[in-house]
Amino acid sequence: MYRDKIKVDLLIHDLKSPLAVIEAGVSGLLTRLEKYGPLTDDQEKVLVRTLRNTKVLKALVNDILELGRSRTGVINVTCSKISDLIEQSLVEIFDLVDQDTAERIKICSDLPQLRRALEEKGLALFIDEGLWCQEVLLDESKIRQILRNLLYNAFKYRKNKVKLAVEKQYDRLLLSVADDGEGIPKIYHKKIFDSYFQLDVSNNHTVRGHGLGLAGVMVLVEDMGGELHLESEEGHGAIFSVTVPLKW
Ligand SMILES: Nc1ncnc2c1ncn2[C@@H]1O[C@H](COP(=O)(O)OP(=O)(O)OP(=O)(O)O)[C@@H](O)[C@H]1O
Ligand SMILES: [Mg+2]
Repeated sequence: MYRDKIKVDLLIHDLKSPLAVIEAGVSGLLTRLEKYGPLTDDQEKVLVRTLRNTKVLKALVNDILELGRSRTGVINVTCSKISDLIEQSLVEIFDLVDQDTAERIKICSDLPQLRRALEEKGLALFIDEGLWCQEVLLDESKIRQILRNLLYNAFKYRKNKVKLAVEKQYDRLLLSVADDGEGIPKIYHKKIFDSYFQLDVSNNHTVRGHGLGLAGVMVLVEDMGGELHLESEEGHGAIFSVTVPLKW
């Protein structure tokens, strides 16, 4: 068992080398125009997106290796602006589902403009202007991982609409992700948080998942001392709500 764990850790560790080569290559193409030649706007957009996602992947690999060091999970608290946190999570999601919208989100200059861009894609964002500009102390990369997984599921299972609501209540941050899809029957409300459990194994979604996202989200939320709740009735969509304590 111990030997297996070392082998898995080594595989993850070895992902770092090809990743570093990809990152250096893409960033070279973007910055060393005198060596590699000029880029068209479209080529630059593709490379910027590739570099951004390579960095996300690098952070994930580092997180996995960090996790191996401590059984309880490592918490890295930083001071983050809510708007940056939400915007970055949305860019990461739209990089997967709709790249033009990812580009639009990045150039939105204020909350109303961002809301309009998202609404066109069926995503309603509920957040107070005051909170939008606030800075909070939390583990930003974990919150982004949580949002990425919940939003990606919501986009995968929605009929038309997804709602993201962000609130602050005293010393807690509340995030809720809702969709208007088929929902989840009550008997599965516990089970879907088990690793590798999937309801619709015969689904026709284009990207097949592994049934790991929600199990991972539950562990991250618990590591931060928070709670994760599901409200859903068959045929009436699903709402996943996360509450995490903010540090002082
Ligand atoms: N918003 C949702 N609406 C309906 N069913 C959902 C929703 N979110 C999750 N599920 C069900 O819960 C199962 C587990 O979700 P989870 O995110 O853990 O795995 P996945 O999305 O199938 O794969 P992965 O996240 O590993 O790529 C899904 O396969 C799906 O059956
Ligand atoms: Mg998932």
